[in-house]
Parts: sequence; structure tokens; C-alpha cells
Amino acid sequence: MPAPSHVMNTYGRLPFALSHGRGCRVWDTEGREYLDALAGIAVNTLGHGHPKLVPALQEQVSKLIHCSNYYQMPLQEQLAARLCELSGLSSAFFCSTGLEANEGAIKIARKFGHDRGIQRPEIIVYEKAFHGRSIATLSATGNTKVQKGFEPLVEGFVRVPMNDIAAVRREAEGNPNVVAVFLEVIQGEGGINPTRVDYLRDLRALCDQKNWLLMLDEVQCGMGRTGKWFAHQWAGIVPDVMPMAKGLGSGVPVGAIVVGPRAKDVLGPGNHGSTFGGNPLAMRAGVETLRIMVEDRLVDNAAAMGERIRAGLQRELAGNPGVVEIRGQGLMLGIELARPCAELVGLAAKAGLLISVTADNVVRLLPPLIISAAEIDEVVRILSPLIRDFLAKGA
Ligand SMILES: Cc1ncc(COP(=O)(O)O)c(C=O)c1O
Repeated sequence: MPAPSHVMNTYGRLPFALSHGRGCRVWDTEGREYLDALAGIAVNTLGHGHPKLVPALQEQVSKLIHCSNYYQMPLQEQLAARLCELSGLSSAFFCSTGLEANEGAIKIARKFGHDRGIQRPEIIVYEKAFHGRSIATLSATGNTKVQKGFEPLVEGFVRVPMNDIAAVRREAEGNPNVVAVFLEVIQGEGGINPTRVDYLRDLRALCDQKNWLLMLDEVQCGMGRTGKWFAHQWAGIVPDVMPMAKGLGSGVPVGAIVVGPRAKDVLGPGNHGSTFGGNPLAMRAGVETLRIMVEDRLVDNAAAMGERIRAGLQRELAGNPGVVEIRGQGLMLGIELARPCAELVGLAAKAGLLISVTADNVVRLLPPLIISAAEIDEVVRILSPLIRDFLAKGA
């Protein structure tokens, strides 16, 4: 009998513990090796134990891990400047997680509304969206499973379907309280659902026309994963507010809200804060992650390896009637199957591959951006027969 756990039971966990990793490989406490095609859900941008990241973090740990935001923060300045340079935005606020970045974005939208005399500001959000599990972000999330039991939800959100500009225009005409549109460029938890480029451009134009904030949640799809620094850059647009997190610190918790001219002066002293947000260790992790990504050309690698994995999966799985669609961009890929497939996660782990399943029937791949062509081929080699056998058994 295993000892009773004192950890709160909020996750369905696989029956093994990871002990250490190197590159795209991780080992469990029993010594079994896995190829990591999940990267801690889009977090381990540089894989595990990166030889350039580890010494930099060690040096930072020995110098200064944390100090409060009572002081000047040169590393915050450095990371903010880099993020603004890469995104074309103007300033950043630092926090530690994705939900905090989104919570901050929601506060910015509300305050933006109040500053314009709108007493009950509303934000347009999306079906199947996921923005986090705080009370406000789960209210913005479009999944009743995430919300159930936590009612009353936070008000001030109106929901529309994705990629339907007419639905947003209807809100624009009928609802004077709207102040912002808030969406993931590629929905992650919702099943790897991409927004169309023309839809994003139409949203940008509508937000400009109405003086709304375009707020793009790049928590999962950002940080080079899709083959551009930020997923919205495929549409050639610039948002007003961009919450991000996950891959930014390569495993060290770092979140950011990066904002453009329309939003940069909305929050002032006393409006927002975070004890851990922007601490020197987190900022160093962000600065070094971006530096190494440039040095090692990882955004290009994400694009090239994304093409390779998609081609491999198409070759192995297209035409199988149980495979509904292979979709996504770069190293953010979903394989939608015709039936629920959560058990594939355990089957893949037994075969030495870490993946996830989201939205019940979508196999999700989010490997580290350092992944090599040989490792991509290995993912395809392990995963394709697993999916084929799983579908054949259920038929
Ligand atoms: C798009 C998106 N937003 C927000 C979050 C929440 O991030 P965190 O778990 O760091 O709070 C997630 C997490 O999966 C996400 O995918």
C-alpha cells in the first residue's frame, strides 16, 4: 500500500516521477528514459539542463535570487526592452504565471474602460478559450468543466465563437460597454484551434475603429513556438496587450503583460503588483532564454521542425478515418481523433514518449524548441503506430 498523500488531489497524475533531464530526454526515478514532446506544457523552451542556461542561472542564484520591487530592477529593464523590441510593443509588467498575466490584462481592460467613463466594462471572450484558474480567468475561460463549482463567476465577459467576425461586429453595434477583445491566437487547452490570419486582421481593424484593446493571450503559443516570436506575427498585426508566461523562463516561473501605446499608461503606481513578479532570478532566466534562442536560431528551428513533424504525421496518419485533422503551427500541434483518447498519454509514456491529450480527443505535441530532426523522426516513429493501433482497437 502506498503511503497516503498529503498533496491536494487536483491533478490526474501518471504513475512515475521524473528525476532529471538533458536536452529533449528525461529520466524517471526508476531509470526509464523518455523523449519529451511536451516540455512541461510548452515551458521548457531550451529543453532540460541546457549548457548555456544552467551556468547563468547558477551564477544568478549565488548573486541574488529575490529582492522586492521597492528597488530599481536593471534585469527587469533588460527583459522588458527585449520583449518590446521583439514584439513592437512599449512596456512590460512582470508576474510569475499565465493566469496572473491574464488577470493583469483583465484589470487593464477594466481600468481602460473606467478611464473612458464606462462604469461596467465588458470584454469579448471566446468559446473553448482557456485563460487560467483564478476566479476572473476561469470566468473568461470557455469551458464549463473549469467553471463548475466555482460560481458565481466574475461578470463583464461576453462570449463569441472563434473566427466569426460577424459575431464580434454584432457586439460592437449593440453593446456600448465593450472595451476589449481577449483571445488566444491558437487555443491550447481548447484543442489546438488556430485563429485565421484574416480574422485577426479584421479584429485589429475593428479594435482600432472602436478604440477597444486587442488582448492576445500568448501564454502557450508565444515565445517562438509557432516559428515566429509571437503567434500573432503570422498575421502581421500588433496587439495592444499581450499576456505571456510558460516558455519565457525555460522552466523558471516568469510571466509578463506586454502592452502597446494604447494600454501603457492605464495602470499607475498602486494599481497592480506582485511580490515575486520580476525578481532577479526570474528576469535572468527570461533574458538568458531569449539570448540563447537568438544564438541557437530556435525560432527558425521551431518553424523547420514543425514542418517536419507535420509532414511525418501526415504521411503516417492521413487517410486513417479515425484521424479527423492534424493542425497547429510550428511546434504547437494537435492531432484530433474521432474519439476520446486520454489513454494514449499512458501508452505513449510506456513507449518512452511524453505527450498530452487535451479537449478529450486531441493529441497535443509541444516539444522543446531545441528538438532535432532525428528526435522529430523518433516522435513520429513512436507515436504513429500507437495512434493507429488505438484507433483500430476502438473500431
Ligand atoms: C493560453 C493559456 N493562458 C493561460 C494559461 C494559464 O497559465 P498558468 O497555468 O501559468 O496560470 C494557460 C495554461 O495552460 C494557457 O494555455
